[in-house]
Amino acid sequence: MSSKKLSGEVFYPSEETINKAHIKDWEALDKQAKKDYPGFWEKMAEELHWFHKWDKVIDDSNKPFYKWFTGAKTNIVYNCLDAHVKTFRRNKLALIWEGENGESKTYSYFALHRETCKFSNILKSLGVQKGDRVTIYMGRTPEIIIAMLACARIGAVHSVVYGGFSVESLAERIEDSNSKVLIVADGAYQRGKIVELKKIADEALQRCGTVEHVLVIKRTGQEVNMEQGRDMWYHELMNLPIATQNCALEIVDAEDPLFILYTSGTTGKPKAILHTHGGYMVGTHTTLKYVFDIHEEDRYWCAADPGWITGHSYIVYGPLLNGTTSFLYEGAPNYPYPNRWWAMIEKYGINILYTAPTAIRGLMRFGEAWVNRHNLSSLRILGSVGEPINPEAWKWYNRVIGKDKCPIMDTWWQTETGMFMIAPMPSVPLKPGSGTRPFPGIEMDVVDEKGKSVKPNEEGFLIIKTPWPAMIRNVWNDPERYKQYWSKYPGVYMTGDSARKDEDGYFWIIGRVDDVIKVSGYRLGTAEIESALVSHYSVAEAAAIGLPHEVKGNAIYTYVILKSGIEKSPQLIEELRQHVSHEVGPIAKPEHIEFVDSLPKTRSGKIMRRLLKAKALGQDPGNISTLED
Ligand code: WTA
Repeated sequence: MSSKKLSGEVFYPSEETINKAHIKDWEALDKQAKKDYPGFWEKMAEELHWFHKWDKVIDDSNKPFYKWFTGAKTNIVYNCLDAHVKTFRRNKLALIWEGENGESKTYSYFALHRETCKFSNILKSLGVQKGDRVTIYMGRTPEIIIAMLACARIGAVHSVVYGGFSVESLAERIEDSNSKVLIVADGAYQRGKIVELKKIADEALQRCGTVEHVLVIKRTGQEVNMEQGRDMWYHELMNLPIATQNCALEIVDAEDPLFILYTSGTTGKPKAILHTHGGYMVGTHTTLKYVFDIHEEDRYWCAADPGWITGHSYIVYGPLLNGTTSFLYEGAPNYPYPNRWWAMIEKYGINILYTAPTAIRGLMRFGEAWVNRHNLSSLRILGSVGEPINPEAWKWYNRVIGKDKCPIMDTWWQTETGMFMIAPMPSVPLKPGSGTRPFPGIEMDVVDEKGKSVKPNEEGFLIIKTPWPAMIRNVWNDPERYKQYWSKYPGVYMTGDSARKDEDGYFWIIGRVDDVIKVSGYRLGTAEIESALVSHYSVAEAAAIGLPHEVKGNAIYTYVILKSGIEKSPQLIEELRQHVSHEVGPIAKPEHIEFVDSLPKTRSGKIMRRLLKAKALGQDPGNISTLED
């Protein structure tokens, strides 16, 4: 570690933490990686199994369409399951699951391999082939992991839609991906109630025509509609003789698609971010191992949802690649009481907890007594993701949960990056609210409008200057949209975030500079919320913005112009909120709807959300020269 004194409030790691850490000297590793980053990633790749090694680590002959480990043959599932089954890890727990109703299940690596193979065989028997897309829509149960792995094992491309999305969001994702198979649960438990996923899916399937087979997992057990010839029960299929536990693994190219995952962008419809087997495998394996300092005996819990990138990379693939034992919990953090999470940490002896600032702030509100009923001494490392963590929440997390002995890994990354980009390691000195510095092998900066580095502590655009293995490869069906990430400055990836870099090179994220709103860590686009509002018979025009919220980070505020002749009423406000919830999902339900007669627009007709935001916050609107009226 450098002996330089760091500015501001700094938390230094303990001797014990440093002694245990895989990486004791971050500076040395970083220096080495800076000299030759392809060489660095090549070394990381060598820790995994390949059926055939690469000809080249990076192929940049067709920028910005970078390729990694070209010529290599692999399959991420081999390294997640098969490789472990051949070792002592065969009998190690891969997954411990607890349902919201207290039910629990465990899977050894052997069992997870078996279930995955069985499900792969079912998919194959339904005609699913390499490259086909399969949509998965369910809650946090082991079957979501099995379904993802079963697809990847046979080279099919999974497209998971978060269970908190609703009818229109699901329909447009199924249609855009052209999925012929949908894997869905009958329902999911959430705060003691049932979310009727199959019912939502039935409605979505009426709006899109690609799906031929629907496989239904029984979770909640209520009566559901089963359409003859289309819908089949998972548990019945898994009992058929064709569902054998041997299923040949499809050996794929490093650059073959692994999954697509829809996320919100600046304008229009959500885009499908494409990740591939080889580079994504190297990126998630390496970052999880070093940032969360994974050791053989650890029990690791990432409390995100598998339906978002955090779940893909750090519930499913990263932990399995590392052969670790993961914990998955189905329900709400405060159900039936606000001690639920702390009780489970104690019960299962969790060592590593990775969650979002919004969850921490939400649980903080219930007070320390709920935490202090439990022995949390198993915890060793904590993590944060999804939005900036305010120092107050950081310190509470550190003191009340981590008892001042668990370093907090604040990880900055995106659906597009696939893996941590700015993140500390346990041996790195921490500053509350900063994710510290880019992971070794990655170069990032904060720049001005012209792409020039700004001075320390000045705000600017956060950019990535070197390619990285788990990087987005394309936007499915839309390469032009992929090129936009690289279009502002040549050869440089625009993150869409603003940030500052301090005199020690520590990065401080400020927030999005585009029309993406982070609500409780969930990424939503203003366009999705607006188009849901406009799809209601009463609405002529709508604008959505995010305003600061104590727990959620941001809350959705909307401004609506009604069609002429429509009466304004509190009932209509409630109806519109329900409508957005039904179309996009409960996570997108506006906090506030205001009826207005006009919206501020540029002369070219674009809504100036910046002005709406300034007005709502009582701030100076700044430059309004482009305002039409
Ligand atoms: C934000 C989530 C501050 C950021 C993994 C980014 C963060 C967007 C952090 C991506 C963090 C993520 N500190 N902001 N540690 N992590 N963000 O695609 O604005 O859902 O651009 O990926 O979340 O959101 P996404």
